[in-house]
Amino acid sequence: MMGKKIIVVLGATGAQGGGLARSILADKNGDYGVRAVTRDPSTDKARALAALGAEVVAANVDDAKSLERAFQGAYGAFCVTFFWDHLSPDKELAQAAAMATAAKGAGLQHVIWSTLEDTRKLVPLHDSRMPTLQGKYKVPHFDAKGEANELFAKAGVPTTYLLTSFFWDNLIHFGMGPKRGADGKLAFVLPMADKKLPGIAAEDIGKCAHGIFRAASQLVGKTVGVAGEHLTGAEYAARLTHALEQEVVYSYVPPEIYRTFGFPGADDLGNMFQYKRDCEREFCAARSVDVSRALNPELQGFAQWLARNKSRIAIG
Ligand SMILES: NC(=O)c1ccc[n+]([C@@H]2O[C@H](COP(=O)([O-])OP(=O)(O)OC[C@H]3O[C@@H](n4cnc5c(N)ncnc54)[C@H](OP(=O)(O)O)[C@@H]3O)[C@@H](O)[C@H]2O)c1
Repeated sequence: MMGKKIIVVLGATGAQGGGLARSILADKNGDYGVRAVTRDPSTDKARALAALGAEVVAANVDDAKSLERAFQGAYGAFCVTFFWDHLSPDKELAQAAAMATAAKGAGLQHVIWSTLEDTRKLVPLHDSRMPTLQGKYKVPHFDAKGEANELFAKAGVPTTYLLTSFFWDNLIHFGMGPKRGADGKLAFVLPMADKKLPGIAAEDIGKCAHGIFRAASQLVGKTVGVAGEHLTGAEYAARLTHALEQEVVYSYVPPEIYRTFGFPGADDLGNMFQYKRDCEREFCAARSVDVSRALNPELQGFAQWLARNKSRIAIG
């Protein structure tokens, strides 16, 4: 790492951060080195990053002092929160505040904040199309991230706001793979009607983030949205049919039904899909595939991602 500018990667053993860490580490002649943050450097995932050349440090985003230590002497940081570990938007806000404070304190020159829209700007709390959740949110795991943008700006941290998209990896790890219906057919369930859902391989989010660090000061203060492809439910199903070599139909489940599915966060996800459905124009416009490909020339489309990952798709 001698002579390299250090990028602190939060969530380095996870999806987005892991993609960024591996992308930087693969770029042997690049300007950047990786300081990978984990709560436990002894795990296999942490050791794998060390083996690739990362400096691995222990820190917990709930412990401000440990974040301050992790950021010391670094050039930049990739900041991300972990909503699905705890389902608390208020916790995400507190963690983002600690990240912004630590980044400012360490004098970082470039931070990427992995964020999402504050949906209340287009669907205010009084809008009865979808229920208000946890008293003050429409889509808790979006709204808190969007609200936290201002924490980085107000702290004077040179920040790029990275708007992510639906991870295709959800079909592997998050219970969103096709499900077999009573008729025996596989169905891909989405509450999107005929609207387009921008999606991306989580690894590609990390590679796009690497592109943002490479573009450096040109993108400080800017919002960059990334997606591998914008597809309708029917288009997702057609690509799944081709990859899995068996018919997959698109099944539209309205958000009001999705919200009642009963798993933790179903109401949040029901509102999220409704937002993406009802605000398709704004949501898609904020995520340019061309910009994503310019940042990451290896950007995958859904068919390409499926060709590599079809054996890992969880079929319910
Ligand atoms: N799924 C989607 O479609 C989607 C789309 C857009 C945005 N998002 C957002 O993506 C975020 C999660 O990102 P991800 O999927 O890249 O994460 P992830 O794969 O869940 O990885 C998170 C990593 O962060 C670390 N971590 C967890 N709690 C920590 C803590 N308190 N302090 C320090 N490190 C901690 C863990 O590493 P160690 O165990 O090694 O410490 C874990 O490996 C969520 O907030 C979600 O809302 C998801």
